[in-house]
Amino acid sequence: MITLTVNGNDHTVDVDPATPLLYVLREDLALHGAKFGCGLGQCGSCTVMVDGRAVFSCLLPAAAAAGRQVKTVEGLGTIDEPGPMQQAFMAEQAAQCGYCIPGMMMRAQALLEAKPAATEADIRAALEPHLCRCGTQARIVRAVMRAAQAMRLVDAVGRRAEASP
Ligand code: FES
Ligand code: FES
Repeated sequence: MITLTVNGNDHTVDVDPATPLLYVLREDLALHGAKFGCGLGQCGSCTVMVDGRAVFSCLLPAAAAAGRQVKTVEGLGTIDEPGPMQQAFMAEQAAQCGYCIPGMMMRAQALLEAKPAATEADIRAALEPHLCRCGTQARIVRAVMRAAQAMRLVDAVGRRAEASP
């Protein structure tokens, strides 16, 4: 048995500890956001966050994620209340088939949480391990820049609210 904390919720699953985290997310927890692309750490479609860092969930044994905070694209917002990253991707119409998008979003989210003032060059470098077969990379970069701006704004408003008596 392994207990995983995914998007803030604990789940105990009966799986071989070596099972890739991606399979557990999709097959045991019915979280289908992270996608199987190559299974080899070469496309990025399976990317999730573990303790704030972007990881290829196709390569990470589920046991290695136990006791750590796993976040998937489902943890960024809901259909009714999409988070800033999801809103930005929609605003820029960054998805064509959409297969690569959850992985792109999670890599971008990890970048912006670690580096809120990320530049376009930072974003391009961070997304380098990700493939998009539809060719929407330019829109994806614009979406992440838009999300960065929105997240900085939310942060600044929060700080002002905390500072006011
Ligand atoms: S499915 Fe994990 S990197 Fe391609
Ligand atoms: S939108 Fe289709 S693979 Fe990226």
